[in-house]
Amino acid sequence: MCGIIGYTGTRDVAPLLVRGLRRLEYRGYDSAGIAVASHMRFEVRKEVGRVADLERSVEDGLEGISGIAHTRWATHGGVTRENAHPHLDNEGRIVVVHNGIIENMAPLKTRLIAEGAIFRSETDSEILAHLIAHFYHGYGSFGDSIIPDIAGDPVAAVKMALSRVRGTWGVAVMFLDHPGMIIAARNGSPLVIGIGDGETFIASDPHALVPYTRRVMFMADGELARLTVDGVETWRLDGGTKTSSIETLEEEWGDGEQGDFPHFMLKEIHDQPEALRQCISGRVLVEDGTAKLGGLDLSPRELVDIQRVTLLGCGTSYNACLVGAYAIEQLARIPATAEIASEYRYRNPVVDPRGLHFAVSQSGETADTLGAVKEIQRKGGAVMGAVNVVGSSIARTCGRGVYLHSGPEMAVASTKAYSNMVAALCLFTLQLARTTHLSAHAGREFAEHLQAIPGLVEQYLANPGPIDDAVRWVCDSKITFFLGRGVSASVAAEGALKLMEVSYVPSIAYPSGEMKHGPIALLEKGSPVICIVPNDPLKAKTASNVQECRARGARIIMVHTAGDPIAELADVAIPVPETLEWFSPLLTVLPLQLLAYKAGLALGRDIDRPRNLAKSVTVE
Ligand code: AGP
Repeated sequence: MCGIIGYTGTRDVAPLLVRGLRRLEYRGYDSAGIAVASHMRFEVRKEVGRVADLERSVEDGLEGISGIAHTRWATHGGVTRENAHPHLDNEGRIVVVHNGIIENMAPLKTRLIAEGAIFRSETDSEILAHLIAHFYHGYGSFGDSIIPDIAGDPVAAVKMALSRVRGTWGVAVMFLDHPGMIIAARNGSPLVIGIGDGETFIASDPHALVPYTRRVMFMADGELARLTVDGVETWRLDGGTKTSSIETLEEEWGDGEQGDFPHFMLKEIHDQPEALRQCISGRVLVEDGTAKLGGLDLSPRELVDIQRVTLLGCGTSYNACLVGAYAIEQLARIPATAEIASEYRYRNPVVDPRGLHFAVSQSGETADTLGAVKEIQRKGGAVMGAVNVVGSSIARTCGRGVYLHSGPEMAVASTKAYSNMVAALCLFTLQLARTTHLSAHAGREFAEHLQAIPGLVEQYLANPGPIDDAVRWVCDSKITFFLGRGVSASVAAEGALKLMEVSYVPSIAYPSGEMKHGPIALLEKGSPVICIVPNDPLKAKTASNVQECRARGARIIMVHTAGDPIAELADVAIPVPETLEWFSPLLTVLPLQLLAYKAGLALGRDIDRPRNLAKSVTVE
């Protein structure tokens, strides 16, 4: 969702900010803007659409060495140039970019208008520009409280303004009286400070900073910072003293560049063998038939005491949780469930203190998942992260967990992160099951098969089968069905989600046995039904459901284990290599990812940035 980049130093700031926005594009946005302190005024440019459009509008030269910029994903107010950030106060002397939501916008706006503020947008964010200006210009008390004289003090003005708003913010503010200074504050929307040599950066995402510096400070909620060329000073808004410290960003595996691929999504599908190796390597102990996830920091004693495992995520991450829960319950014989984080956090869940929770997230910034983490912690539960982005809010809030090591995932549609979530949860399953009752022999078999997965993924991607035939049917259909049983039911869900987000083809996923309880009414002659039927103990059951669809004239696209005669039931059969039941999602999901990609391509969709979607969903 929205992205922030800011800079103060000695470089030509406009191209630097535009480059930063480009590196934030993957988060999803619908407009972009930039403000540069230039010749005693703020030069502001905004565009609806792509950062490339904004880049063209700054080509005439925006001279300056400090500025802030923003990509906006609309919440309050439509997608218009006026609503794009940055926002200015009446006099154009204070400029603001903001991520998050100001919940008490209405009363504040009424009061500010009564005092003379002129609003030029419909956004909640513009409130901040006027409210900060109010205190900075020393207009006295706001409402009925008496405030000290803080006129002319940027830090105090921002602090005072933030004390009057309710909601979430990652905010960067500049004052024309102090053109080399940026004030930043965080509450619920991530911000990271980059520290260079005679230059300082602020961004909502370390990815924007990596070309310039790896020395960073992740701001904590409730923190405020003053950035200048000389470095950074931080405070806590509540007056406390504990503030963030400087860290060095780890080298990311993968560079987040597109290479020779036409789209990030296709590149990331093909990254999967290497991404899986990065996730598994060093964590599988074949000789002992177990796995070791050091970041969990759980002793065998603590592992055997676990009474229940709850996996939480949203979207694709939830689909990966379904696979994990299935594997844990089957193999470790411990009750395990997957939960949609946005539902879980608000249903006053019963948190078992003897249970273990995992928050599963690629970005580590999903507001709903982070909210669920905090709710579990409030109720005394233990929660680990299974997160891709190092240093992200969920990783930091959990404190312990497992990094996915997928490398940067830039396409909105998650592919390699899904696979690494499944792989990481399989590693945990092995570690847990081996501690409880799995024999060394069975553990070794599990470990060997897991280690073989990256090679099998590579093998499949080299020869993906007749995907194009399936694409034609899917693109011509009103609706596409995805069916699977057991662990494949969750792969069906992931296939449908992927197809919808990338191609906008209406898609529905059901556990095969549920089809006859309702959705079969939608079947028409020629409807494409994508059946995920690997060679597992439930195969024969799914085969019956396939027959029921065939009998009604459906076109069967079947993802099956290579060499299995069940393929005879299919109109289009897509074979994948054989593996153990628990790992089959890592193979059966591949044709579904390619199908979604190719359907999106055939229908002319914006593959890497589908409409209305964001990579990092930082609002609830
Ligand atoms: C995946 O293709 C989607 N873009 C989306 O469902 C995503 O998985 C979800 O928003 C959760 O994101 P997270 O993994 O970053 O928490």
